[in-house]
Amino acid sequence: MEREIEIAPSILAADFARLGEQVKEAEAAGADRIHIDVMDGMFVPNITMGPVVVKALRKVTDLPLDVHLMIERPERYLEAFAEAGADIITVHVEASVHLHRTLTEIHRLGLKAGVALNPHTPPEMVREVIEYVDVILAMTVNPGFSGQSFIHSTLPKIGELRRMLNACCGGRDLAVDGGIDPATAVLAISRGANVLVAGDAIFRRSVGIARAIQELRGAQRIAARQTA
Ligand code: DX5
Ligand code: ZN
Repeated sequence: MEREIEIAPSILAADFARLGEQVKEAEAAGADRIHIDVMDGMFVPNITMGPVVVKALRKVTDLPLDVHLMIERPERYLEAFAEAGADIITVHVEASVHLHRTLTEIHRLGLKAGVALNPHTPPEMVREVIEYVDVILAMTVNPGFSGQSFIHSTLPKIGELRRMLNACCGGRDLAVDGGIDPATAVLAISRGANVLVAGDAIFRRSVGIARAIQELRGAQRIAARQTA
């Protein structure tokens, strides 16, 4: 039996005036981890949140807090996010010059380590560190904003990353992030993604958070049927 996909609501699309409530609602609806997008206005054009938000959310949920650092030289802030209560820290391969050292440091802090790749970054960029990585995060939009359209040309790379993970260290997570909805989720799952990060498709749906998560989960059945 194939393992269940995991759903990681991205709070960037949540109502910030009711952030705690929305995270609790996502947890009650069966979310598997909470995805927190940290942006510095340098690596990406937008500025969002820092360790103080992670610390506040740590008090409202038991779900793993998955911190996606879209910042330059992320190694400067690993300790601060670990102290705030992060469980997973993901850094961009494009932003960390000494990536092996950064990943080793995340593990030394007792956290899981992720590496993210922008849409134009080839899978080869993670080959030499793949054994040190718990999660690969394939960006399916250019990072910076919620609500962008899925970039279809990233699909072959998702497949290649899954093959690389299978060859090295099967069972590790391959997450996709950006423009994920029930339809694009099917495409990503078919290529081997097992974690769906979604903002718009969870927090901004008129059907509500619970139904939106259910619909994303349904993508796994559709993908399985298509490949059968
Ligand atoms: C994009 C962020 C994403 C974003 C996804 O820069 O890394 O996590 O919130 O949002 P949606 O699912 O709305 O594309
Ligand atoms: Zn993200």
